[in-house]
This record gives sequence, C-alpha cells and structure tokens, in this order.
Amino acid sequence: MTSEPLLPLLDTFGRQHTNLRISVTDRCNIRCFYCMPAENVPFMERKELLTYEEIERFVRIMIPLGVEKIRLTGGEPLVRRDLDRLVARIVALPGIRDVGLTTNGLLLGEQAEGLYRAGLRRLNVSLDALDPIKFREVTRRDGYEQVLAGLKAAERAGFREIKINAVSIRGMTEDEIVPFGHFARRTGHEVRFIEYMPLDAESAWEREKVLFASEIVERLSRELMPLVPLRGADPHAPATEYVFEDGVGRIGFIPSVSQPFCGSCNRFRITADGKVRNCLFSLEETDIRGLLRGTAADAEIVEAVRGSIARKWAGHHINAADFIQPKRPMYSIGG
Ligand code: 5AD
Ligand code: SF4
Repeated sequence: MTSEPLLPLLDTFGRQHTNLRISVTDRCNIRCFYCMPAENVPFMERKELLTYEEIERFVRIMIPLGVEKIRLTGGEPLVRRDLDRLVARIVALPGIRDVGLTTNGLLLGEQAEGLYRAGLRRLNVSLDALDPIKFREVTRRDGYEQVLAGLKAAERAGFREIKINAVSIRGMTEDEIVPFGHFARRTGHEVRFIEYMPLDAESAWEREKVLFASEIVERLSRELMPLVPLRGADPHAPATEYVFEDGVGRIGFIPSVSQPFCGSCNRFRITADGKVRNCLFSLEETDIRGLLRGTAADAEIVEAVRGSIARKWAGHHINAADFIQPKRPMYSIGG
C-alpha cells in the first residue's frame, strides 16, 4: 500500500529533502580520533535507542514527503544486533529507491553475506590509511587486517558498489594519498577523500589540520596520473568525482570545509536516540522518539519534521568566526 504524496520537505531556501540518514547506534568497536574520545565514551542506554519497529514506522511516515534514499550509519551500525533485519524491512518499503550503509568494515567478514541477502547493495567502508601503523594511529585500535578481510568478504558476497571513505588530515595522511590512488585502480572501488570536519569529541579540530581536496587532486595528478572530472553525477551528491585519465580508478572528494556543498543539500538525519537533525552542524534537534513512543498520530510526526527542516540554516558556519561546534560529536550524530 502506498500512501498519497504530501507536500515535499522543503526548507526556506527551496531545498527538497529526499535523503534520510539513520544512525542505529552510537557504539563503535574502534576510536577514530576525529570522532570519539579514546576512552570512557558515554554511550546511550539501550532503551534510549529507537527500535527497528520505530525506525521502520518513521521511514514509512517520511516516504509520502518524498524521502526515497536511506543511509544507515552509526557509530558503527554493524555492532547493532541483526542489522540485516532492519535492512530487509527498509528495502521492502515501497517508495524507497536506495539503501546504503556506512561501516568501518570490521564486522563485514561475518555480516556481508547476510546484508547482501537482505537487499543491501551500496556500501561505504571507512578506511583512512592503507598503512597498518597509520591505521592504528587514527583509530587507536587494531583491526586493519580485519577491515581488508571484510572488504574481500563484501566483494565475495556480491557487492559491486563499494566506496572507501578516507578522512584526510594534514600532518597525518599525506603519505596515504598515492597508495589510495593505486588501490582505487586495482580494486575498482571509488576512494573518497573527506575533509576533516570539526565534529571530534575532543574539540581538537583546527583548520590547519584539514588536508584540502585540491591538494590531493594535485598530488595524485602529479605523482600517479592526471585526474579528469566525471560529468553527469548526481547534483545533490556531496562528492565531486574524478577518474584517472586512462579511465581506470575513480576518486571522489567530500570537500566540506574548502568547498561547502550546502546549497544543494538534500539530507537530514535521525540519531539513534530519535532526534531529528537538519544538518550535521545544527545546534538544535527535534525529538521524535517521544512522539513515536507516545500517542502521536503520523501527522504530528510529519509536522515535527517539517518544523525542523523549516529551521535549517543556509549552510554550516565552519569557515566563519561565529562557528560553534555542535555538542554531539560525530559518533552520536551519525556521519
Ligand atoms: N570529519 C570528517 N569525516 C568524519 N567522519 C567521522 N568523523 C569525521 C570528521 N570529524 C567520517 C567517518 C565515516 C563517515 C561516516 O564520516 O570516517 O567515513
Ligand atoms: Fe567508529 Fe566511525 Fe567514529 Fe571511527 S568514525 S570511531 S569508525 S563511528
């Protein structure tokens, strides 16, 4: 049964929100420094998390508003039990065209097959370094071999759309650039370099630590092979994409700091504890869990989400003097 379409989720700048990112847990099995504290992380309690039933109901309510694309995130989404059950429920919803998952890959060895069987086709695997020592420096945990094994398991399970997310940090990951270029050419997986954003738990971000997309393009072009921009990409996608000039190896960039793409943003989020956020960087959030657990009718939930989207700012203020880092670090927002 498909319900009647409602007015789309427009903000005051005319951006239509069709892309919902759902965080299913704030827990994680590693501790990337740009996201989490090293120790003693204050995690949410289990009863605070939306259940799969609550998440499914929320997605159903969002479909008539034009939401058609879903991404599951964390923390690390695969540490939540039976995630494949949630994937299957969301994939089955009429109106949902696209379901993706962002994972650190550590548990893909065990779960890739089940996720593929549940209908998942798109995977983004976070991997910031191909050098195991550098991997440990970033994640502050072991697991490099397990991630590579997880990637192999995903390929074997049938995944063809695998992207690698690599956060680029000045003074830390410069030497990973060229190896990642070769990796993209060898594996066929697009490698996306993400500029380091001020969402770390320890508030250690500084603009000087951002390794800019333009520098990476330049370095790959000089030291490996010239890159040419890919045309015809989705205008709402945050990534700008390139291919090496011989046609082998795709490289993407998420230049959130140097070239913000807020003007074409179509994304909003719900945290694992059921708060809608209209931006990664928003300073306010809208409680949906209370509505889902109370007696609220679907229409009330629709109005709460519309209110949140209506208050969305034109863009983040990372580059402005008045920037205030949100209280929630990345792991509890969901990337
Ligand atoms: N800056 C940039 N990217 C980040 N991620 C997590 N924290 C940050 C940050 N501070 C990335 C993760 C993952 C995705 C969800 O977001 O590496 O790939
Ligand atoms: Fe875990 Fe992802 Fe945060 Fe790294 S970025 S600590 S993998 S949630």
